[in-house]
Amino acid sequence: MTIRERLLSQTLVYKAFKNLLLPPASLRRITEEMFAADDGASVLDLGCGYGDYAPWFAGRCRYLGIDHNPGYLETARRRNAHLGHGELTPEFICADVSDPVVAERGPYDLIFLGGVLHHLDDDQVRTLAAQVAPLLTEKGRFAALEPVFDPDQRLTARLLIASDRGRYVRDAAGYATLLSTALPHVTSEVYGDLLRVPYSHLLIEARPQTEARPGEPVGDRP
Ligand SMILES: C[S@@+](CC[C@H](N)C(=O)[O-])C[C@H]1O[C@@H](n2cnc3c(N)ncnc32)[C@H](O)[C@@H]1O
Repeated sequence: MTIRERLLSQTLVYKAFKNLLLPPASLRRITEEMFAADDGASVLDLGCGYGDYAPWFAGRCRYLGIDHNPGYLETARRRNAHLGHGELTPEFICADVSDPVVAERGPYDLIFLGGVLHHLDDDQVRTLAAQVAPLLTEKGRFAALEPVFDPDQRLTARLLIASDRGRYVRDAAGYATLLSTALPHVTSEVYGDLLRVPYSHLLIEARPQTEARPGEPVGDRP
């Protein structure tokens, strides 16, 4: 582990770094637009880290956060335990994204990942796609926000992204190809204005397979 990785693995340092780079308006945009969910929705946050997104769902949705780092999960629980009520209180489980508990607790109206896919190798992303595809409700949505290599990005953005702790940052086609092995209707869009520094994020979305209507090719949606 490098000194930088060791520093970032400390809760306070990581949070200070994130708060410095991510303006509150961007956090709102991510939660209220990109990871939007209707009241009463069942929501799965895979690789939830410190549970930064949980407050947006508390008291409104059935939110489940999964992360394999016990330290992060402990912080997530502590920060969110007082929010919501009954089954609308955010719940956190320490597990790998591939753990059977993910399927046992489904289905979900929204399955989202914030900055997790670039920590997973190609096989892990394919497995994850196959695992979550059947867990989406009929009108459900899969969404992931990831750093991306983009031909139009500034060199500083590219260098920052290349220095990320995650070893599997891809271009848009790289993420989409892997996810499309199991998730139909994968779309993506690049955002270059979420951080206070030059950076490129990719919002990747997918919807569950729908039944083909007569005369309509399989996989098309209205
Ligand atoms: C960059 S952090 C993002 C945390 C959170 N989603 C956010 O946006 O604040 C990536 C998170 O993914 C988690 N993670 C990575 N690989 C995982 C895996 N295989 N299973 C569960 N969690 C994983 C890490 O522990 C870490 O909390």
